[in-house]
Amino acid sequence: HVLLFKEKSALRNYLSAQKETNKTIGFVPTMGALHEGHLSLIEFAQSACDLVVVSIFVNPTQFNNEDDLEKYPRTLDSDIQLIKSKFPKNVIVFAPSAHEVYGENISSSQFNFGPVASFMEGKYRNGHFDGVGTIVKKLFEMVKPHKAFFGEKDFQQLLIIKKLVELTKLPIEVIGCKINREKSGLARSSRNALLSNKDRLESAFIYQTLQQAKANFGTKSVKEIERDIKTAFERHPLLKLEYFEVANAHTLEPFSNKKEQYRAFIAAYANNVRLIDNIALN
Ligand code: PAJ
Repeated sequence: HVLLFKEKSALRNYLSAQKETNKTIGFVPTMGALHEGHLSLIEFAQSACDLVVVSIFVNPTQFNNEDDLEKYPRTLDSDIQLIKSKFPKNVIVFAPSAHEVYGENISSSQFNFGPVASFMEGKYRNGHFDGVGTIVKKLFEMVKPHKAFFGEKDFQQLLIIKKLVELTKLPIEVIGCKINREKSGLARSSRNALLSNKDRLESAFIYQTLQQAKANFGTKSVKEIERDIKTAFERHPLLKLEYFEVANAHTLEPFSNKKEQYRAFIAAYANNVRLIDNIALN
């Protein structure tokens, strides 16, 4: 079953009664248009907690592009049906309006996330992480979960949320979950729904190049790997590369020859649809 809440006061009352019976609360924040990637987070949360809250809210303050916000898929009814069909256990869905979350003033707070916020998504999407921090902090304060689950698909976001918990000292354990992929290898994303079938298949090229980077890491130099990937994208009929980066998996600092854990990150456009993906290199 799905218990749907649209008001934070009703959600809070329900959850505080549940917490009195010592139930552990797991939280999966989403922007809806749910897919297998989201469902894998919910499933994992259910295995780790007594009660799982899923929020569905397209957060306006994290969009740096009006058009992207407008185009973003909104499918609340089918999202609820999907959860119902997939999970025999109760799932709490919180789907507030923007007014319920922000009141009259839809704007971001500013956070000092430090260097992790300055690379990649931070560099190319101005204000994005302040928007993410603002909404996730508000949701954390409403739900007060014991554990919160985030996908490695948005690896930089996962690090930002860990930083947010550190900054706000909220007693929440942040848990990273592995990337769920389509059969082609394309990382699942709500934005994939905006692609034609043909573009969707061709976009698997992003993951193919990440795998190629991984195969060459340790034998070719990172400079050479970068050059190969840039050239491959230049020749690609559909995809426009925004960035390819090899970065430290903890700090996101660019590759240096130290013995550290590294990941490769890509952002690319398929027509007007922005796609991101990443892979552990070592
Ligand atoms: P959204 O893009 O809907 O993603 C919700 C959660 O699902 C995020 O933690 C994301 O990393 C995870 N996720 C998405 N695709 C995934 C995949 N293919 N495999 C594994 N996990 C995946 O991320 C957001 O929403 C928003 O920024 C949010 C945190 C809800 C704040 O508004």
